[in-house]
This record gives sequence, C-alpha cells and structure tokens, in this order.
Amino acid sequence: MKVLVVGSGGREHALVWKLAQSPLVEKVYCAPGNDGMKEAQLVNIKADDLNALAEFAQKEAIDLTVVGPEVPLTMGIVDLFQEKGLKIFGPSKAAAEIEGSKAFAKDLMAKYNIPTAAYGVFTESDKAIQFAKKIGVPCVVKADGLAAGKGVLICEKMEDAENAIKDILVDNKFGSAGSRVVVEEFLEGQEVSVLAFADGEHIVPMVSAQDHKRIFDNDKGLNTGGMGAYSPAPIYTDDVRAVVEKEVLAKTLEAMKKEGRDFSGVLYAGLMLTKDGPKVLEFNARFGDPETQAVLPRLESDLAEIMLAVCDKKLDQMEIKWSDNPCVCVVLASGGYPETSEKGKVITGLEKAADNALVFHAATKLVDGAYQTNGGRVLGISTQDETIVRAITKAYKAVSEISFENMQYRTDIGKKAIL
Ligand code: AMP
Ligand code: GLY
Repeated sequence: MKVLVVGSGGREHALVWKLAQSPLVEKVYCAPGNDGMKEAQLVNIKADDLNALAEFAQKEAIDLTVVGPEVPLTMGIVDLFQEKGLKIFGPSKAAAEIEGSKAFAKDLMAKYNIPTAAYGVFTESDKAIQFAKKIGVPCVVKADGLAAGKGVLICEKMEDAENAIKDILVDNKFGSAGSRVVVEEFLEGQEVSVLAFADGEHIVPMVSAQDHKRIFDNDKGLNTGGMGAYSPAPIYTDDVRAVVEKEVLAKTLEAMKKEGRDFSGVLYAGLMLTKDGPKVLEFNARFGDPETQAVLPRLESDLAEIMLAVCDKKLDQMEIKWSDNPCVCVVLASGGYPETSEKGKVITGLEKAADNALVFHAATKLVDGAYQTNGGRVLGISTQDETIVRAITKAYKAVSEISFENMQYRTDIGKKAIL
C-alpha cells in the first residue's frame, strides 16, 4: 500500500515513522514534509494546495492519505478526495468545524449537555464586554476561528478582557477568524489531552497525554505550539476516564451524527480536570502536536490497519494495543521562538541522540549534507521506559547530545507526572 501524509512538522514525522513500520505499507510519501523524514519520500506540494495533492494522489495511485494539520481539513480536503474516490483519513469539512469554529463547538456542547465552561458568543463588542462583566475576571476571550493557537486570551483584569474583545471584534487582529468572539468562564485545574480514533459510528480513545504550552519552565512565558508532552497523564485516573468516555467522547460522536456531521478521523478533546469534574476546553479535529510524538511510540498495533478500519467504518472490529511504558517528548526550539524564529543554524549530535531516543524532525533542512534549523520548533526527542522518571532521564540525556546556536527547551517536561 502507498500512503501519503500531509503536513511537515514533528507530528507528521511521528505519523510517517509509525506508518512506515506497517507490513501493509510499501511506501510513504509526505507533502511537503521536512528533510529529517528519512522514512518518507518528500513531495513538494504545500499542505493547503488541495487540488495539487489530489492530483498527486491520483497520479501515484495512493491507497491512503493521512492529514496532519487542521487547515487542509477545514478547507475540505477530505470531501475533495472522497469525491475523487480517494481513500483519506480525517474528518469532512462539516465535521472539522468542531475545531474550525469555537462558537460551533461551544453551541454543540451546550445543545447536547457536554461539560464545558459557561460562555457567550458575540459579534458586537458592547454585548461581549457586558457579558464579561457579568461573569467577572479572570475570564477567557477567544477568537472564533483558526488562529494557530494565538487566538485565546486569558484575562486577569476586566480591562484586559475589554482590550482583547476590541482587538478581535473592532481592530480585526485575527482577520476573519475574529468575526465572532467566545467569552467564557475561567476554569481551574490540570489539563489533559485525550485523542480518540473515530469512524463516525464508533470512538476508541488513545492513551492520555499532557502538553506543555508555555515557552518557559513552570508554565511561564508566552504560549507556544507545545514545548513537550508525556503520556500517560497520571491525573487521568480510571474514574476520570470513565466520565470522559461517556460524557464527552461518546456524547460528542453522537451529537455530531445527529447534526449530520459524522466525525471520522482523530477527535482531540482538550480537557480541564476541575473540582466539578472534567470539562472540555476545546476540540481539535486531528492529532495533537507534540502529543502525537508521546502517544504513537506507545502504540503497539498497526496504525495503517487502524486508519483503514476508520475509513471503512469498522473501528469496532479492531483491537488496539498500547504499551504500559510511559513516553516523554521534549521539543527543541529556535532562539526567539515563539515570537520569531532563527533559521539556518547547524545542528550537531543528532546521530548520537538517536542511539537511545526517537528523533522527530519538525523544522530542519539538509544543507550540504548537514542538518540546519528551519523554523520555530525544530526537533522532538521522544523516549520511553518502564517508569516516567526513567523516560525523562533518558530524554534529557539524548537532548544533551544535541546542540545548535540559541537552542531553547524546557527542563521540566513530565515533572507533573511524578507524583
Ligand atoms: P484552547 O485553544 O481553547 O484550548 O485554549 C488554549 C489554552 O488556553 C488551553 O490549553 C488552556 O490552557 C487555556 N484555556 C482555554 N480556555 C480556558 C478556560 N475556559 N479556562 C482556563 N484556561 C483556558
Ligand atoms: N498540542 C496542542 C495542539 O496540537 O493543538
């Protein structure tokens, strides 16, 4: 079978790496991919060039396409491929709206009684500000549409909330993604990411994970795409899991079906474990980055087989096995990230690090036979061991082998998992 992975980051490298292990898979392509993906043949087509991707898949007789990022999904890549009779893993445009519009996701949760923070959706700043005053601070102001993780503003003071609402609705700071705002109650607790395979009819959760969104240790500094992850999250106990599976995952799948938006692919629930129980912060319509780099190494089953079962609505017939051994992924980022990112810095130590770790490339480039940095998040170093402490030690040992000018990384990935 020939497989095409769409996207170019660390998540996509993890997908390529896992799919390449499948006995069903002869060849993996990645569009556009990055130079570190040794397991794949790179295809020079951008992830949002849907027509060119479909043309390539037809010409090369690709048997299965797997989509990493949200943008092509919300643009309708799955609908386009299916119209052309091409097999593709991911949600339709209508189903991907669960990530593409926070207002849609919140209204869905309200309608079907799925636990989430109290909220309001507004197009007029006066009304949004009135609502923020009613719920009080801290509160959270969110641009409705996709904003590459930057559209969520936690407001400690009412003045911050007013400014955030005006930035989004009046000054159009997020363009059309900000034609509506969601204003919501601030939730306290620990965050957990639960990704689940779904085929429209059945939903099967993966093992839990925790992301580290802030740039600096102890969750300080600006939000990033994610500076590291670990799996499992010990706070996601069997009791919490039972609630999430029933009240969040099963209900959401059913709700999407009732709305005529059957969800197929990966449904990612970002949860806050509050004292009143788990509540949904957001849904994503895809694998998380860097959660994937901490979750997929634990998957013992064949990912290609699972994805085919999803496409054929036979997920209930699959037995999906996971390793008990925890996994940690530490992200290495460029100087200046997340505000800017340096490029073209020579990376050393990759081979030595790979002796005892999985080295997932997120933004690297081969220049004259040597790898250089090529973006904000450069690498993800994943390690697995019998205990989380051993996995963490192993990860940082591998990290210590790698260097490039102004490399940044957090030194506390996985610390919250040590009880
Ligand atoms: P989202 O993209 O909606 O998940 O928001 C990004 C991050 O903002 C989340 O991972 C949380 O850390 C934080 N966040 C979002 N909504 C809330 C909320 N209602 N209460 C507290 N923190 C939140
Ligand atoms: N790790 C957060 C995300 O993938 O959206």
